[in-house]
Amino acid sequence: MVKQIAVIGGGTMGRGIAYTAALSGFEVTLQDISNEAIDRAQNYIETLLKKSVEKGYIQSQQRERALGNLSYTTQIEEAVRKTDLMIEAALEKMDLKIEIFKQADELAPAHAILATNTSTMSPTEIAASTKRPDRCVAMHFFNPVHRMKLIEVIRGLDTSDVTVDEVKQVAEQMGKETVEVNEFPGFVTSRMNCLIGNEAMNMLMEGVASAEDIDKALN
Ligand SMILES: NC(=O)c1ccc[n+]([C@@H]2O[C@H](COP(=O)([O-])OP(=O)(O)OC[C@H]3O[C@@H](n4cnc5c(N)ncnc54)[C@H](O)[C@@H]3O)[C@@H](O)[C@H]2O)c1
Repeated sequence: MVKQIAVIGGGTMGRGIAYTAALSGFEVTLQDISNEAIDRAQNYIETLLKKSVEKGYIQSQQRERALGNLSYTTQIEEAVRKTDLMIEAALEKMDLKIEIFKQADELAPAHAILATNTSTMSPTEIAASTKRPDRCVAMHFFNPVHRMKLIEVIRGLDTSDVTVDEVKQVAEQMGKETVEVNEFPGFVTSRMNCLIGNEAMNMLMEGVASAEDIDKALN
């Protein structure tokens, strides 16, 4: 059962995943190689918790509990050494993800699940750098994580049913809904977004509306 989550990468997605996980009762360690990114992430999370209390979305005890669940580090060793689930949310670069998975595989407990928040890439290829491809999976969250209900779960060729069940349970504890998507580039949502983006370019080219008005019409 997952109790401790290591979030790797403290940018837009990592900080949102850390916030949501901590508020959902998981112990969370957020790791980033950059001290500035860690400071920004901590500031974002603490501000969001404060505003959520002020607006009545959460109780002040929930905020205190979430703060108690959170820790921050620049060292991947520290983040993953006692984790049950790593969620990698570093940059969308295959080499980087492979390197992070390789390190996490060496440092994390044998039972730990290694998940990537990739928007488009192959979880099979990322998992191939590890000795536990059955425990690797993709969990595709959306921005802003605390408001977006969906997580796409994508299994690699060797991902086990148990791994998929466990990440679905984690998603449920976070109050999210999951869809299982087969391993195709861009999955469902990023693929659809590309289509919409291309159509916006076509409309601009044809003179349907200005870029600003196309954006405004769709927002
Ligand atoms: N932004 C979105 O809307 C969105 C939505 C879904 C999925 N994603 C995916 O999530 C991932 C992260 O995207 P983002 O928008 O949060 O990026 P981001 O640029 O906001 O943050 C990335 C963070 O990763 C850190 N980082 C870089 N190398 C690292 C390493 N070796 N170890 C630890 N941290 C490292 C950077 O310092 C940075 O803080 C990408 O794979 C992206 O495709 C993004």
